[in-house]
Amino acid sequence: MKTWLRDLPKVELHLHIEGSLEPELMFTLAERNGVSLPYATVDEARAAYDFKDLQSFLDLYYQGMGVLHTEQDFFDLAMDYFSRAAAEGVVHVELSFDPQAHMSRGVALSVPFAGLERAMREAENRWDMTSALIMSFLRDRSADEAMAVLEQAAPYHAQIAAVGLDSAELGNPPSKFAAVFERAKALGLPRVAHAGEEGPATYILEALDVLDVCRIDHGVACLQDEALVARLRDVQMPLTVCPLSNVRLKVVETMTAHPLPAMLDKGLKVTINSDDPAYFGGGVLDNFIACADAFDWDRETFKALAANAIDVAFMPEPRRAELQQRLASG
Ligand code: ADE
Ligand code: ZN
Repeated sequence: MKTWLRDLPKVELHLHIEGSLEPELMFTLAERNGVSLPYATVDEARAAYDFKDLQSFLDLYYQGMGVLHTEQDFFDLAMDYFSRAAAEGVVHVELSFDPQAHMSRGVALSVPFAGLERAMREAENRWDMTSALIMSFLRDRSADEAMAVLEQAAPYHAQIAAVGLDSAELGNPPSKFAAVFERAKALGLPRVAHAGEEGPATYILEALDVLDVCRIDHGVACLQDEALVARLRDVQMPLTVCPLSNVRLKVVETMTAHPLPAMLDKGLKVTINSDDPAYFGGGVLDNFIACADAFDWDRETFKALAANAIDVAFMPEPRRAELQQRLASG
């Protein structure tokens, strides 16, 4: 099953590129840029990745990305992830990044855009891996700041597939960003948002009704509200679920307790993703394998999940048709 899952053409829709920073590269970049780390060794860093909730993870995630300074750093970060993803059978990835977390450290907005864009082109040339970029806003910072970043990013709007919303969810409802997302919509930019990870089902409703998103990141809290589940099913709203992340951040107790099987039974448009692979115990293949171990799903179930991701990805139609064909004939 593991070899078969590796060879399955997989599309990853929910991946924070800063969350793919492995400790080995963190140490390399720290040395390159003269940044001091709170860990003496790679093993010590990994040992610190023991989280009690989303915030305890975010604290280390923002600290870790402090080693990223130059365009080359962002290029190296993305290439490190792409090379691992290629070996895992990932054929298309939608990577999000957090510009505010870099700008607040004095890194110009142009720097991540240039480095990530160069790596995306290189990944396509090297591995035929296509990709799309999602520019995410930090929901625990002000809406005014997000609006300013959206405007400042005007030269790059053609480079992004969508805008997103992430970081600390509780107390930062989607409605806080109504004006920002309205502006993004007016600019013709598709919208996605984290909702219902640690936050309640009402945040998912707000993401739909106020932000007019075309995808919900996580969304596992939808099961608290049967009417919402019916709505998500009826419109086949894509949910980018990240099972290993949910276990590591104590959103669920164990993999076997994860609501993914219930979500599938209810007819929801579910996809499987890694979120922050360097921090949560592996990439998208590891997430598929963890599901195989926990749920005893057959190949058709995994194929349906992989097909869901291809269906809703930001990609040109010929590429979508090619990947669906590859999946069907595998
Ligand atoms: N930023 C990176 N990973 C995140 C997650 N799982 N939830 C919210 N914000 C994030
Ligand atoms: Zn996420």
